[in-house]
Amino acid sequence: MEQAFWLQRWQKGETGFHQDSLNPHLKYYYDDKAVPLEERKALKVFVPLCGKSLDMYWLSQNGYEVLGVECSPIAVVDFFKNHQLEYQLVESGNFTRYIAEEDNEGRRRIEILLGDFFDLSPKDLEGVTEIYDRASMIALPEEMRLQYSQKMMQLQRPGMRTLLITLTYPQAETAGPPFSVTEEEVREFYSKHFKVEKLRAKDILAEEPRFQQRGVSSLIETAYKLTRN
Ligand SMILES: C[S@@+](CC[C@H](N)C(=O)[O-])C[C@H]1O[C@@H](n2cnc3c(N)ncnc32)[C@H](O)[C@@H]1O
Repeated sequence: MEQAFWLQRWQKGETGFHQDSLNPHLKYYYDDKAVPLEERKALKVFVPLCGKSLDMYWLSQNGYEVLGVECSPIAVVDFFKNHQLEYQLVESGNFTRYIAEEDNEGRRRIEILLGDFFDLSPKDLEGVTEIYDRASMIALPEEMRLQYSQKMMQLQRPGMRTLLITLTYPQAETAGPPFSVTEEEVREFYSKHFKVEKLRAKDILAEEPRFQQRGVSSLIETAYKLTRN
């Protein structure tokens, strides 16, 4: 799935991956029970392959600073427009930075880097403490997922935490994206440099008509916590 594929999807409005409501994992792992509000001042969440995810807006409204990376300008501009956020543009290296500063309505700073995830350097992730990977790793075919996990390893400092959400289904039953990612693969790619904890796994096929129509017989959503060694 090269960038051209995704740019075309955004141009044609084929964005079935975009969720019109918050991802349930988000509240479960980032809300009050998990992280007290006063602790969030020190936290900055990186959202790789972020699209125009509503989850970023929720994070910003709920005390987290947000940094995204996305290759489609349509997605990035839509995100700021949909939430009526004023933004400035800063050209820097491989990226155009879209920045909405913290405001007096309680929203923390949101910055989206327009460009290629694979061009990021550790310096771009300065201040990042958390990574929220929803529909990012699973958006990529297997050979790119290996590159993606290697890049993730290079980008992170010890102690950085990732919430990784995957889907697992019989890959022979339909083609991706999203691609099926097994627990074996997550452990194979990450366990050398990360502590890998499986948090929850649930069959969500009954809630996913798109997968039912594609003839998929089981669809397991799994959340992992990865901590960089
Ligand atoms: C399946 S979508 C998921 C978007 C978002 N995470 C969400 O939950 O709605 C994958 C996104 O990654 C973007 N993308 C794909 N390859 C990319 C790359 N190499 N660099 C930056 N963005 C990329 C696509 O444009 C698309 O918006």
